[in-house]
This record gives sequence, C-alpha cells and structure tokens, in this order.
Amino acid sequence: MMQPDLIPALDPNPLPAPYWVFKLLLVVTFFLHIVAMNFMLGGAVLALVSKWRSGDRENGNRVFFDVARKLPSLLPATITLGIAPLLFVQVLYGQFFYTSSIIIAWPWFLVLVFLTLAYYGFYLASFQSGQHAGKAGGVMLSSVILIFLIGFVYSNNLTLSQSPSRWGGKYFADPAGWNLNLSEPTLIPRFLHFMVAAVAVGGLFLIFVALANWKRDREYARRVLQFGGKAFMYATIAQLVVGVVFLVSLPRDMRMLYMGDNSLATILLLVGVAGGIGAIFLMSDALRKENVRVAAFYVPGIIGVVILSMSVMRDILRDAYLKPYFHPEQFVVKTQWSVFPLFLVLFLAGVILWLVMLKRYGLFSGTKAADTLPSAGSQAAKRS
Ligand code: HEM
Repeated sequence: MMQPDLIPALDPNPLPAPYWVFKLLLVVTFFLHIVAMNFMLGGAVLALVSKWRSGDRENGNRVFFDVARKLPSLLPATITLGIAPLLFVQVLYGQFFYTSSIIIAWPWFLVLVFLTLAYYGFYLASFQSGQHAGKAGGVMLSSVILIFLIGFVYSNNLTLSQSPSRWGGKYFADPAGWNLNLSEPTLIPRFLHFMVAAVAVGGLFLIFVALANWKRDREYARRVLQFGGKAFMYATIAQLVVGVVFLVSLPRDMRMLYMGDNSLATILLLVGVAGGIGAIFLMSDALRKENVRVAAFYVPGIIGVVILSMSVMRDILRDAYLKPYFHPEQFVVKTQWSVFPLFLVLFLAGVILWLVMLKRYGLFSGTKAADTLPSAGSQAAKRS
C-alpha cells in the first residue's frame, strides 16, 4: 500500500553539485566505511577465535594482542568514514532516512551508547597486560557484541528507510520510537551478508599483519597467513550460501533486476560471484605455496572490486525499492563551482592524510612477540 502523504516534502534547497556527484560520493564513501568496518569487526572476531581456539595458545594470544592494539584506531576510522556517507545519504535520501530514523528512534539513539561502550572495551582489551591478559578476551567479546548490534540497527534503519509503506503501521504501533524492522523478510539475510563479509575481510586484515611481520618473524607470520587465509576462504564459501539466501529473500521484481532485468545489476552480480570464487582459489593456492604477496595484494585487489560492485548493487536495490516515491529529477541543482573543486581536493587530501596517519601509527607495521604478547613481554623483561 502506498502512503505518499507520510513522506516529507523534498528539501527545497538546491543541491550544490549535480545529483550524480552525490551519488558517486555516497557509493565511494560507503565502500570506504564498510572496508574499515570489516577490518575492525572481522579483525576483532578473528582475534577472539585465535585466542580461544585450542592448539597453540602462545601464538593465539599473540595474534589476539597484535590485532587488539590496532582496534582503537580502526573503530574511529569506521566512524569517520561513516560520517561521509551519512551526510550524502541525508542530502539525497533525507526524506526517507530521517523518517525511518525517527520511527526507530530509541534503537537508533542507542547506537551512540553502544559505540561509546565498545570503544572503551577495545581500549581496555588493548591495554590489558601481564596477569590481566586473561580478561581481555571477555572485554573484547562484549565490544564485538555491541558492534554487531550497531550493524543490526543500521540494517533495520536502512531497510525501513526504503519501505515507506510500512512507516504508518510501525509509527502508530509505538510512536515513542521503540521499533525495529523485524518483519522485513530481507533483514536477517542482509545483515548476515554484511557480517559474514566482515569475517572474510578480517581474514585479509590478518594477511596484512602477516605481510608486515614476514621479514621480522617468519614463523609467526606464516601462522598468521594460514589462519587469516583460511578464515577468508571459509567465510567467503559461507557467503556464497548467505548471498543466495539474500537474493532469494528479495521480492521477485527486485531479484529479477540481478537476473537480467537490469544489465548493470546483472553484470555486477556476476563480477561479485566470479570475483569471490576466483579469490577463494587464488588464496588456496597462495596458502599452499606460502606466497604472502599474492595473498596480500592480488586477493584484496579482487575483493576490493567485489565490494565496490556490491556497493553499487546495493544502491541500485535502494533506488528500485524507492522508485514509486523517489524522483531525483525533482532536485533543483545549483552547482557551487567556486567551492566544489576545493571540496574535491580537500576530500582527496583528507583520505591520503588519513592513510599516512594510519601508517605512521603503525597499523600495518610488524611487531615483536614481546610487544604484542603481554605475558611474553613480562617474561622477557624478567629474564633481562
Ligand atoms: C562501528 C560500528 C558500525 C558498524 C558495525 C556499521 C555497519 C554498517 C552496516 C552493516 C551498514 C549497511 C546496512 C545495510 O545496508 O543494511 C552500514 C551502513 C551505513 N553506515 Fe555504518 N556501521 C557502524 C558505524 C557507523 C557510524 C558511526 C556511522 C556514521 C557516523 C555510520 C554510517 C553509515 C551510513 C551512513 C550507512 C548507510 C550508507 C548508505 O545507505 O549508502 N556507520 N553500516
């Protein structure tokens, strides 16, 4: 049922740049946000698996603390890179996004609380040392659960934002804002699609850790390579199933977009699936030959293209859902040419500066066992 009267009027302020520029920036910055989120969440999940899986306890702990120390920088990177698409989504889809945010007001507000607590947790886990090292796992797990909840609230909000026909029912069911979008059939497959991807990309993050340690500590780096590479492969295999479930959960006309009705969407889906399968084989070969370069450059290169394709597919899906309500040709465009180039230069400079900062901070630098493993560190200190 269409309820156009519930959709706020289009903001009469003109767009300061052409529509396609905002669209491009939305997709590109969303891609950056999701990659940072995947490194952070996938890295944290795999750090926990490494700590708690049976087998080599010392190396498991070392991987855990190696990753734990990087999380307090990866979380703000996720947030900073989330603010950019937040601005663009408000400019283009404000009528829908603001409304759904109000309908799920309390869970949406709780994101801030969860984020703050998760941030504290990551700091706490990374500072644990010596006899407190054992508690770090529990603290990290609490942060990971909070981060999962944040992702879940985002998926609720974004699915609701593209289903205006549900707004009235939800709002009047609880005008105070204690709502989610749990009746949406695509919600769980969509959310799982993001979370499984996070674990796969977290595996790639560990490959970067292996690369950074390759010259310094070959034995450790080899173990990290195998662990990260296998995590990537298993999660990507699982993704082939989750992805199909997601596709099947879509309404028929949306699903058909990817099966021939929209050529761009169909090509992007093929690129995504072929890229995913190709990356699994390449990673398997790299692990067998212990070729860290293939694992750290070629596989992430392919997966970068896959994530970009999926980001565009996601955008096509949103526009398909909003087709009856969203008419971009109604935007008034008054390009501010005087500031637009300045914006682009500053945007690029900002991304470059951000990468330099991460490098300087040592996000991708190698570590010694004594740096990362608190108990080994204190034992080494005692010995000396
Ligand atoms: C740190 C925990 C976070 C996680 C796990 C997370 C995860 C996600 C996920 C899974 C989505 C896609 C949801 C979907 O389409 O179903 C998403 C979208 C988005 N996130 Fe985040 N996010 C986090 C933090 C943030 C923050 C702090 C911001 C803003 C400051 C942000 C801004 C956005 C925006 C604007 C989108 C939607 C972009 C679009 O619709 O094109 N995120 N996030």
